[in-house]
Amino acid sequence: MSVKEEQLVWVEAVSYEELAFNTGKTIRYQGEEVALFKLSSGKLQAIQNRCPHKDGVLAEGIVCDEHVFCPMHDRKIHLPSGLVQLPDTGCVKTYSTKLQDGIVYIGFAKAEELAS
Ligand code: FES
Repeated sequence: MSVKEEQLVWVEAVSYEELAFNTGKTIRYQGEEVALFKLSSGKLQAIQNRCPHKDGVLAEGIVCDEHVFCPMHDRKIHLPSGLVQLPDTGCVKTYSTKLQDGIVYIGFAKAEELAS
């Protein structure tokens, strides 16, 4: 399910320059934990930080192109869609990102959306 942009709270995460290429950064906001990545292309991707298998910390995974490999058992997750790649199955939540004045923001659902 996609959340419309106007339903998001944009939370300042980190400066774009500080974010290392292909290295995850953990961002926390109101009980949610996000793995934020700056890919080799410079594109930003943000996903739920916990693997659907056994809660591996995805921000600590190895990034290859548009995928991250879970550090625990190597499941491969497509960053733009959050889908675990075959032969494994499952998915993680994805988050919108935006870059404004050199700062990376992550879009979280507003509190009333989270509560429902
Ligand atoms: S916890 Fe991620 S593959 Fe097992």
